[in-house]
Amino acid sequence: MKVTAVSPANIAFIKYWGRADNKLFIPRNNNISMTMSGCKTVTTVELGDYGRDLIEVKFFGKDYEKLERKTIKQENLYDQVERIRDMSKDKRYVRIKSENNFPADAGIASSASSFSALTAALLVVYGLKEKFFDKKELSKEIRLCGSSSAVRSVYGGFVEMIAGKGHEDTFAKQIADEKYWDLVDIVAVLDPEKKLFSSSDGHLLADTSPYFETRIVEMQDRIKRCREAILEKNIHKLGPIIEEDTISMHMIMMTSRPPLFYWSHGTVRIIQDLYKWRKEDNLNAYFSIDAGSNVHVICEKKDAKEVRKRLKKNEFVKWTIYNEPCQGVKIINKHLF
Ligand code: PMV
Repeated sequence: MKVTAVSPANIAFIKYWGRADNKLFIPRNNNISMTMSGCKTVTTVELGDYGRDLIEVKFFGKDYEKLERKTIKQENLYDQVERIRDMSKDKRYVRIKSENNFPADAGIASSASSFSALTAALLVVYGLKEKFFDKKELSKEIRLCGSSSAVRSVYGGFVEMIAGKGHEDTFAKQIADEKYWDLVDIVAVLDPEKKLFSSSDGHLLADTSPYFETRIVEMQDRIKRCREAILEKNIHKLGPIIEEDTISMHMIMMTSRPPLFYWSHGTVRIIQDLYKWRKEDNLNAYFSIDAGSNVHVICEKKDAKEVRKRLKKNEFVKWTIYNEPCQGVKIINKHLF
C-alpha cells in the first residue's frame, strides 16, 4: 500500500511565535495565512516489514538523505509516524520519501508543507481516512506533528488557525478559498541556506522577551482587521497589517534571551525599497518575513510583473519564487518511488 500527498507552504500575515502549550503545540495567538502555489512538498509513504521506520528527504538542489532523530523537528517527524501507527490497527513500519521544490529551513515555511504532506499521507496509508477527509480533524492531527504553521496548509486560500485552550478547540478554519482574491507572494531569496536557529527552538524563547505579553494584547485588533481586509480584498488595509505583524514578531525575536536576529543587509534593503516604491511609484507591495532573512513580497497580481522585475535587479536577491493562493494538502496518484 503506497500513498502520496502534496502540500503547499503558506505565508503568515498574522504570525505565530510562542506557544501556550509546548506538548500539544498550541500557539498563544490566532494566526492567519495564505497558501503558496510555488512552494510544495510531495511525500510518498509505503507500509512494509522494514524492521524500522525509514525517512528520506530530498531538499531543494540536494540529493536524498536519510533523516535521523537529530533535531527537534526530526524527532517530531518520527514521533508523528509512531503516534499515527498507534492509532491504527496496522503495526507495519513505513518507508517515506519526501521532496521540496524550494529551500528548506530558510524562512519559507518548509515545515508547513512537509509536516502537512506527511501527516495526510500517513493517515490515509494507515487506514484513518475519516481523519483525513474531516479537515478540522486533519488540522488537529497535523498540529501534533510539531509545526503549527503546517495546520494552515489544510485548506486552500486564506486560513486562520484558531488558538484554543486545548486539543479539541485548536484547529484551522478557512476565511476564503484560493479563487477569492488574486493576491501574490513573491519570495525574494537572499539566502537559501538553513537558518542558524530553528523556529521549533525559537518558540520556546518567545516569552523571555519583556514585550511578549504586550504583543499578545496589541495584536488582537490586528487579527480582526486582517480577517476584514481579506474579505474586503483591500490591499491598502491588508499590507500595513502584514508589515506591522512582521515587525512585532521580529521585535519579540530580537528581544528574547538570547536574542534572535534573522535579518540581513538584503532584508533591510528590500524593506527600504518597498517604502520608496509605494511612496514614489504608487506600487502597492508589502513585506513579510518569517524566521529567516528571505523576504516575502505581497502584492496584487496586476503588480506582480513589475515587482518581480524590480526585485530581480536587487544585488542581494539570488532568485524569486512566484506564488498565488492555491488548494491545500491533497492526495495524488503520482508516487515518488
Ligand atoms: O510552525 P513552525 O513551528 O514552523 O513556526 C512558524 C513560525 C513562523 O513561520 C515564523 C510564523 C508563522 O506563523 O508561520
